[in-house]
Formats: sequence, C-alpha cells, structure tokens
Amino acid sequence: MIDRRVVEEIKYRNDIRDVISQYVTLKRAGSNYNGLCPFHSEKTPSFTVFTAGEGNFYCFGCGAGGDVVTFVMRAENLDYPSALEFLAKRAGIDIPEDSAKSQGEVSRTRVMDMNREAARFFHATLVSGNYPEALSYLRDKRAFPPALIRHFGLGFAPNEWGSLVKHLKSKHFSEEEMIAANLAAKSAKGTVYDVFRNRIIVPILDINGNVVAFGGRVMDDSKPKYLNSTDTPAFKKRRTLFALNFAKDLCAERMILCEGYMDVIALHGAGFSNAIATLGTAITEEHARLMKRYTKEVVICYDADEAGQRAADKAFSLLSEVGLETKILKVEGAKDPDEYIKKYGAGKFKLLLEGSRTRFDFKLGSILEKHDITVPLEKIRAADEAAELIAGFYSAVERDIYIDTAARKLSVPTDTLKADVQQKIRSRQKKENKEELRRVMSESAGYGNRTNPDYVRNPAAASAEETILGLILYSPELLGGIEASGELREETFQTEFNRRVFAAIRAIYNDHQTLEEGLLSERFTPEEMGRIIGMKVRRTALTNNGEDVLKECIARLQNARTKGNNIEDIEDILGAKRRKQNE
Ligand code: CTP
Ligand code: MN
Repeated sequence: MIDRRVVEEIKYRNDIRDVISQYVTLKRAGSNYNGLCPFHSEKTPSFTVFTAGEGNFYCFGCGAGGDVVTFVMRAENLDYPSALEFLAKRAGIDIPEDSAKSQGEVSRTRVMDMNREAARFFHATLVSGNYPEALSYLRDKRAFPPALIRHFGLGFAPNEWGSLVKHLKSKHFSEEEMIAANLAAKSAKGTVYDVFRNRIIVPILDINGNVVAFGGRVMDDSKPKYLNSTDTPAFKKRRTLFALNFAKDLCAERMILCEGYMDVIALHGAGFSNAIATLGTAITEEHARLMKRYTKEVVICYDADEAGQRAADKAFSLLSEVGLETKILKVEGAKDPDEYIKKYGAGKFKLLLEGSRTRFDFKLGSILEKHDITVPLEKIRAADEAAELIAGFYSAVERDIYIDTAARKLSVPTDTLKADVQQKIRSRQKKENKEELRRVMSESAGYGNRTNPDYVRNPAAASAEETILGLILYSPELLGGIEASGELREETFQTEFNRRVFAAIRAIYNDHQTLEEGLLSERFTPEEMGRIIGMKVRRTALTNNGEDVLKECIARLQNARTKGNNIEDIEDILGAKRRKQNE
C-alpha cells in the first residue's frame, strides 16, 4: 500500500480538471464542467467534472465515475499503483520505492529491472558471435540488418537450462523474482531453470520504454513456434501493444496494426515505424482505446488467410467503435506483410497502404460482391443494404459523400438513396430510444447490475442504501451522528456491495476524521468507483435536508430488514424466468 500522505500529495498536485482536460474538451457549466465522455461514444455531453472538494467525475450516460486516480486508471488502462505512479510523474513527485509494492509480491519495478538485465544478456549472447546460427537466422532468413536488430534489442537464448538464471543471480536477483517475472520456472524436483531456451528473443517494451515481457521464436519448424511471457506484475498482454513505444513518438495520424511482432519489425525496417501488433492475443477494447490516444486512423494489416481476415473483421468493429477511422489492407501474393515486403519491397507496400480501403469502401465492396446488380431484385437489396450501411455514419457530410458514391456504383438515383438513408436513420433512432429505455428500466430493476448483484434481490433496501451512502459521501460529517446513534451498522446493509462501501467509508473516516476518496479508489475497482460516485452525484439534489432524508432511509432500511423475507420469493421468480430464457 502506498503511504496515505503520498496519495494525498499526488492528488493535491494533480487538479482533476487539468488532468481530464488532456483527454476531454471541457466546457464550464455552473461550478462544474461538461464534456463528451471518453469512456463511451456519445454525441451530447453527459460527462461531468465536479470540482468541489477533492474533485470527481461522473458520466450520466455510462456510469463511469470516480476521482482523478480512477480517471487515470480507466483512461490510461493502469492498475491503482501504476495510476498513482503516472500522476506522481506528472506532478514531479517521487514515490518511495518500498511503498509501491504490496507485501509478499514482487514489485513491478523489480520485474522491469530484471527484464532489462535479461534483455541485455540475450542481446549480448546474440551478438557475441558464439551462436552464428542465431545471427544467420535473423540476417539471412528474416533479412533483418544489424541496425534493426539493435533498434529492437533482439537477442538469443542459448540452448541451456541455466544460463539466464546464473546471470541474473550474479546480478542479485532471487529465484523467486525470476519465477514471478516468468523468466524462470521450477521443476517438480525443485530445480529452477530458464524458460526461454534456444530461441530468438524479442523484448516487449511498454509505452515508457520499460522491458515488460519477452517473446521467443524457434529457428526451425519445431513447436511451439512462439513462446511468450505470461502476465506478470509488469505485463498485461490485453493492454500491451508491441512497438507502440516507437510508433507513438511519430505522432502519426495513422498506425498499421499487424498480427505478429515479426511483421512489425520487418515494417519498421522498411521505414514504416508506425506499425504495431498485439501480443499473441486478439485485439481487445483496451488495446483499441490505447491506440485511440495516439492516432486517428488504423490500417489493419493481418495475415491474408481466412483466419487472418476473420480476425481483421473483428478488429475492424472494435476499432471503429472507439471512434478510430479504420481501414483494412489485405496483402495479395504473400501470406503476411513481412513476406510481402520481402517479396515486393517497401515501395509496393506503400502503394498498397495508400490504396487501403476505408470502412465504407470495404463494406460497400462486399455488398457489391454479394449481389448481382444487373438483376432488379438484387439491386434493390443491395441498395437497401447500402442505405443501412450509410445510415450508420454519424457525420452528415460523410453520409452525403457516401450516398453519391453508392448511388453511382449501384446506378440508382441519388435522391432515392438519400431518402432511403433518412428513413433508416429515423428507424434507427426509434430503436435506440427503445433500447435506452429498456436499459434504464432493467438497470433500475437491478438486472445486469454487475457491481451490485444483490440489488435485484431487494431493490427497495438497495435503493435506500444508495441514498444513505450518497448522503454520507456528500457530507461525511453525518457519520458522526450515525456513529453516536448506533442506528446504522454494517449489518443493517442488505446488499453485500453497499455493506462493503459503508464499511470502507467508516474505516477511512474513523482513521482520518475525513473522507478521502483517494483512499476509496484504492479499495474499489474503477467500475465500482463509478457506482459509488454515481450514488453521491445523484443525491446532491437532496442534500438540503440531508439529515431528514437520512433518517427516513435508515427507517426504510430497517423496515425492509425486519419484513424482508420475500427475498426468496423474488429470487424464485427470477430464477424461473432465467431458466426459461436459457431454454
Ligand atoms: N503466436 C503465438 N504463438 C504461436 C503462434 C503465434 O503467440 N504458436 C502469436 C505471436 O505473437 C505472433 C503472432 O501470433 O507474433 C502471429 O503469428 P503468426 O502469423 O504465426 O506469426 P508470423 O508473424 O507469421 O511469424 P513468422 O513470420 O515468424 O512465421
Ligand atoms: Mn510471418
């Protein structure tokens, strides 16, 4: 746990509005600020920054909320200690090394230090000249020149069981730390041995240039072809993009997303330093958001085979959803970009890149491929699908351009197609409104309530609890009276999540005589923090007669508690409903 005073200092020196302004354009609204939520796509601002007190944010649209630390956790995809580190760096504060690590765990910094040492060892081994087969693989088979090998710090793990372990020991790293970093493993007999053996080593760097993991490739056809570090305290593969540390420095409007890191290395070698790749995993939403921070447009350049193209289609949807302009580039006559560059050269790839199709062209292309538009009925279908596709674009200017293109390609009158598109937009809006209503209703009924799954069992009690917690969060001094009267105890809370929130608030208040939300975000996930801040924000309207509302809610809660035995009935009904749905 990081020292509380350090947390306070970090928060104090990072004004929430300053920090959030770097991600969201904020407009003043009374004493607060509004903007478009960075965590879901919206056209009207429902994201609010409350500057009073410690400062909070809350999105009335998606329920994201919290303090400045939670914001950074979500926006930068970091865990709590890393978010603090990030903010500390931003404000020029030093976090004492020891406080960043929780007990019994190997710290991130330690793992990263060890990884850096390991990367040096692998690279030195490669260039030592003692393993010519490794150098020849990279130079001859992969056509990577020495400068490229150095740029990526490529290395070689010799075919021995203990060379890295021995080296790291000499640098005072313990076996336990090596195992935590996934550089070593323990055999059944208890011997600790190198994980990477007889492989070309690709160090994986995070955006700050820390060595967070390794990939290892065999030099022949043996299996597995690639061996990658598993998640460690320093590495989450769902959030890491290979070569983003280089690509981000270009401030490029466009990035190229590949399937494999060898593709990326080859592309960088050919001058495309904006190429990046995921690490042995399909692209996640976290990856997409990460890319969104550094670029506007992504060209997906996956393997040309069917699996690659299917994956490209998935990536396509994910990337467009976070608001990235997305294109797909399919290499012809080669299995992947690496092979393409080797076969046809960088110039040809550049042409391909310029010609890569926009999302619209790509989708319109597949509509045209699917239908024979010389047949009238087919043409009508194609026009209908095109109208549906165009209706999905938010910008009217963009839609007009696409209507022209599609009308020409389908040879239908522009006005007809335009009318169709308008029609589709109207019915989409109706559907969206209905879905929104359904979402709100189901949330208030407690369905899909992941943060507080007990809500559904007892919505009346849970809602009273949330009012109480909201009031306390807003005016922590109410806790004094609550403690004194003894009316409200942890056991009074009927839903487990709210009970946990109450316990945490009480503990913090009793320890510090004030409620620091920074200490809350240490105990709850960003999603949970969203819910907690939501309680506070929704109750601000009631704070004038806070004490009365509090009394009433406590009474309601106690009431629900003494009665509350129809819980099982409700559960039965829900259970039956759910079973039916599943059948
Ligand atoms: N991958 C993996 N494990 C495997 C195969 C692939 O983790 N057994 C991951 C690696 O991250 C690799 C990516 O998937 O970079 C792409 O795999 P593939 O297309 O097989 O790799 P190539 O880049 O074509 O590799 P190469 O050119 O070295 O054959
Ligand atoms: Mn390849």
